[in-house]
Amino acid sequence: MPDRHVTSLTIPRPDDWHLHLRDGAMLQAVLPETTRHFGRAIIMPNLVPPVVTAEQAKAYRERIMNAMPPGGQFEPLMTLYLTEATDPADVRHAHEAGIATAVKLYPAGATTNSASGVRDFEKVRPVLEVMAEIGMPLCVHGEVTDSAIDIFDREAVFIDKVLKPLRKKVPDLKIVMEHVTTQDAVDYVRDSVKNLAATITTHHLIINRNHVLAGGIKPHFYCLPVAKRDTHRVALVQAAVSGDKRFFLGTDSAPHIDPLKLQACGCAGIFTATNTMSCLAEVFDAAARISKLEDFASRNGPKFYGLPVSEQTITLTKGDPVSYPTQIETADGPVTVFDPGFDLHWRVTC
Ligand code: NCD
Ligand code: ZN
Repeated sequence: MPDRHVTSLTIPRPDDWHLHLRDGAMLQAVLPETTRHFGRAIIMPNLVPPVVTAEQAKAYRERIMNAMPPGGQFEPLMTLYLTEATDPADVRHAHEAGIATAVKLYPAGATTNSASGVRDFEKVRPVLEVMAEIGMPLCVHGEVTDSAIDIFDREAVFIDKVLKPLRKKVPDLKIVMEHVTTQDAVDYVRDSVKNLAATITTHHLIINRNHVLAGGIKPHFYCLPVAKRDTHRVALVQAAVSGDKRFFLGTDSAPHIDPLKLQACGCAGIFTATNTMSCLAEVFDAAARISKLEDFASRNGPKFYGLPVSEQTITLTKGDPVSYPTQIETADGPVTVFDPGFDLHWRVTC
């Protein structure tokens, strides 16, 4: 049946390969929004202070498990925040003991809570070499932080200045270029032969920089990497719906309470956990590629990480527009749910 006539889709339970769950009251409030539809997620370590050691990752994992909603079947895949002081032996231990799945590289100052990130890449080389040896992926926030580089160019410059040299030095390291936002990144990943993949967020498939800046500033569309011009968004959609194994879902769902977003210096981050599967189905359906949602959300990620595809399934059904809450209440304050700006006809029915 041609994709455009499909009104029901059953796929292996999806995974989110880049998720911010935070801690405390926020964790408690946002965790069910992910566990409702997702089986696993790569959990970002940018807490304050960051999750750097195996011991800290183990403790954070326990806090997540304790916040699990009743009946929740969800596996948090932990990451370690790479610093210049990270001990290669601790990383090896975290991976071998099943405590951490990946290591996260933030260039220092790149985004929310990234002050402890890496300045001098030579200092982390021994860690990267251990990771290459044991097959542990490095998740990369791919933006340079040099204030002289225009914010819209930071991803493209990162590829040339950081990623290319890094991949030459440690060619056996598996790298996930996270939340790619440009045609440049899509092309770079497509040109790679091995050990490189990219996650794409829900919102970067939907918004461009006009959504953020035209007709008044829209803090709820502000995230990092910042959305680019529409030609880049179109390139991301083409990559996502292509079925290419090197592209998979990482929502980068990043909750901040509204008072922290709606101020003179608002936080970066878009909260998409609640309606991500409906948004994605709408995007794939509009591209007449609904059948490729399975590759993007359920198959390509586990393949790259060397994990099994979920044996559980979810079913999405197309019908009348579905409504989602505009905000999630947390004990710290409200968190606004991403508004895609169009009706969502696909809902997760079971
Ligand atoms: C993330 C956050 O809020 O932690 N923000 C964002 O805009 N994506 C950090 C990040 O992943 O860059
Ligand atoms: Zn993120």
